[in-house]
Amino acid sequence: MSWTRVLASDALAADGRQVVKVGKRKILLLNHEGELYAVDNTCPHLKMPMKNGKITESGAILCPIHRSAFDLSTGEVQEWCPWPPGVGKVLSMISEQKKLPVFPVRVEEGSIWIDLQEE
Ligand code: FES
Repeated sequence: MSWTRVLASDALAADGRQVVKVGKRKILLLNHEGELYAVDNTCPHLKMPMKNGKITESGAILCPIHRSAFDLSTGEVQEWCPWPPGVGKVLSMISEQKKLPVFPVRVEEGSIWIDLQEE
């Protein structure tokens, strides 16, 4: 494990989101229903930002562009590029289906820490 301090814990509001840069990566921190998550802010489909993606009732984050759905805890693909109807199926073939990188996250000493070694 290689923990990196990324943000003061009080800088992320309840149900808040914030993108932090760690090296070359942009990591999206989410506080969702009291749980903290750290996911790559870059959608693996066409490298678009995930920051404004909705969270579904099944615990997935949707890419705001073509609505690929990724499990918030594991990053596994639940649905690949379904939007817009009809066109999404064609767009889905542009890029190989890949999971969204997710990272272990913890709060300690008043800060949020993530581990970039585990994806
Ligand atoms: S850019 Fe995210 S699903 Fe296409």
